[in-house]
Amino acid sequence: MKALDGVKILDFTHVQSGPTCTQLLAWLGADVIKVERPGAGDATRKQLVDKPGADSLYFTMLNHNKRSLTLNAKHESGRQILERLVKTCDVLVENFAPGALDRMGFTWERIQELNPRMILASVKGFGPGPYSDCKVYENVAQCAGGAASTTGFLDGPPLVTGAQIGDSGTGLHLALGIVTALFQREKSGRGQKVFAPMQDGVLNLCRVKLRDQQRLAAGPLAEYSQHGRGIAFGDATPRSGNDSGGGQPGRILKCKGWETDPNAYTYFITQAAVWESVCDVIGKPEWKNDPDYATPAARLPRLDQIFDAIEQWTCTQTKFEVMDICNPLNIPVGPILSMKELAEEPSLRETGTIVEVDHPERGPYLTVGCPIKLSDSEVEVARSPLLGEHTAEILRDVLGYSDDEVVAMLESGAV
Ligand code: COA
Repeated sequence: MKALDGVKILDFTHVQSGPTCTQLLAWLGADVIKVERPGAGDATRKQLVDKPGADSLYFTMLNHNKRSLTLNAKHESGRQILERLVKTCDVLVENFAPGALDRMGFTWERIQELNPRMILASVKGFGPGPYSDCKVYENVAQCAGGAASTTGFLDGPPLVTGAQIGDSGTGLHLALGIVTALFQREKSGRGQKVFAPMQDGVLNLCRVKLRDQQRLAAGPLAEYSQHGRGIAFGDATPRSGNDSGGGQPGRILKCKGWETDPNAYTYFITQAAVWESVCDVIGKPEWKNDPDYATPAARLPRLDQIFDAIEQWTCTQTKFEVMDICNPLNIPVGPILSMKELAEEPSLRETGTIVEVDHPERGPYLTVGCPIKLSDSEVEVARSPLLGEHTAEILRDVLGYSDDEVVAMLESGAV
C-alpha cells in the first residue's frame, strides 16, 4: 500500500514546476494521468535533447511514475473526455499561463459543477496584483521573489542559484497544498482551489532575508562580512557572498587541490560552542583566551582574519580530510560536492536518492529519486511514459469507453 493509493490526479502540468509536484504525488502512490497535446506533448520532451529521437532527460527526470494520455482540449470530443476525467479524478493540477484553463472552458465554476469534490491546484508566476497576467520561468521567479537580490557577492551583480527554487520549490509548496486539501476534504466533503504563485514560494524560501531587511533598522548586520570590512549598509538586505546567513559565521574555504579542481572547497562553520576545538585544529590555541577572539561578539569584526587563518589550514587537507578531522570534534563542515561526485556516491544509491532507470528510447539514465522517505509507503521509481503511451488504456479502464469508441476517438484527432 502507498500513502496516496486511490487518489487520481488529472495532471495538466508542463515544463518543471507542475511536473515536480505531480511526480512527488505519483511517488507517494497517486495515479497521475498526464494530459498532453497529441503529436507534441510537454515541450520539455524535445528540449535540451542529448539523444536524438528520445525523450530528453529534462522530461524523463520530471515525469516518473505517471501515465500519459494525449488529448486535444480544444477538440469537441476531447473536451467531453476531459469533462469525464474531471468527474472521475480527485485533483486537477495545472501550470498553464494565466487564463489558459478558463479559455479551454474549465473555469473553477464549471469544474465545481462537474465535480464538487475536485481540488484545483495551480502554479502561476505571480498572485493577484500588477503582474498576475505574466508568463514566468524559473529565473524570473528567483529575481521577483528576492533570491537574486540577496545572492552573489557585494561587488557583483545579482545571481540566480542552481537550485530550482522557483520551479521545483513551488512544486513542493503546491504538493503540500494538495495533500492538505485532500485531508480537509475528508471532513468537509468539498474540493477547493490550491494556488501556489512562484514569487510567493521563492519569497518563502528567502524568509531569513526579509528578517535581515527588518533588522537593518536596528543597525548594521554584524554577522555579514561587510561589517568587519567597514563597508556601510544600504537600505536593503545586501548580497552576502558565502556568509552563513545564520547566527554561526561560516564561509566557503579552499582545500588541498583547489588550484586545479573547481570543487576542492569546504564550507566551514565556526560554531561558538566548538570555538576552542577550531582554535586547536587550525593551530591557533592562543585565540582561546585572547579577548579579541574568545567570544562570538569579539570575533564578528574579525571574520576575514579568522577565516583566512582557517583557510591556511584547510588548504593543507582535502575536503574529505577536513570532514574526517572536524566531524569527530562536532565542528560543522561540508565538502563542496560536484554533480559527478553525487552521481557516484554509493550511500545515495543505497537510499534510493540517486536511482538508475531504464528507458526504451534512451537506455539507462540516472535520476534523483523521492527525497522524502516514508517508512510505510515505499517508493519505486518507474520510467516516464512515452507520449500517449496510456491513452487507450485510460480511456478504457478509467473512463469505461469501449474498444470501438477508443478507435473512433483516435481516428477523430481528439486524442
Ligand atoms: N490541448 C489543447 N490545447 C492545449 C493543450 C491540450 N492538451 N495543452 C496546452 N494547450 C494550450 C493551452 O490551452 C494554451 O492555449 P491558449 O494560449 O490558446 O489558451 C497553449 O497551449 C499554451 O499554453 P501556455 O501555458 O501559454 O504555454 P507557453 O509555452 O506559452 O508558456 C509558461 C509556458 C511556463 C511560461 C506558462 O505556461 C506559464 O507562465 N505558466 C505558469 C507559471 C509556470 O508554471 N512557470 C514555470 C514553468 S517551469
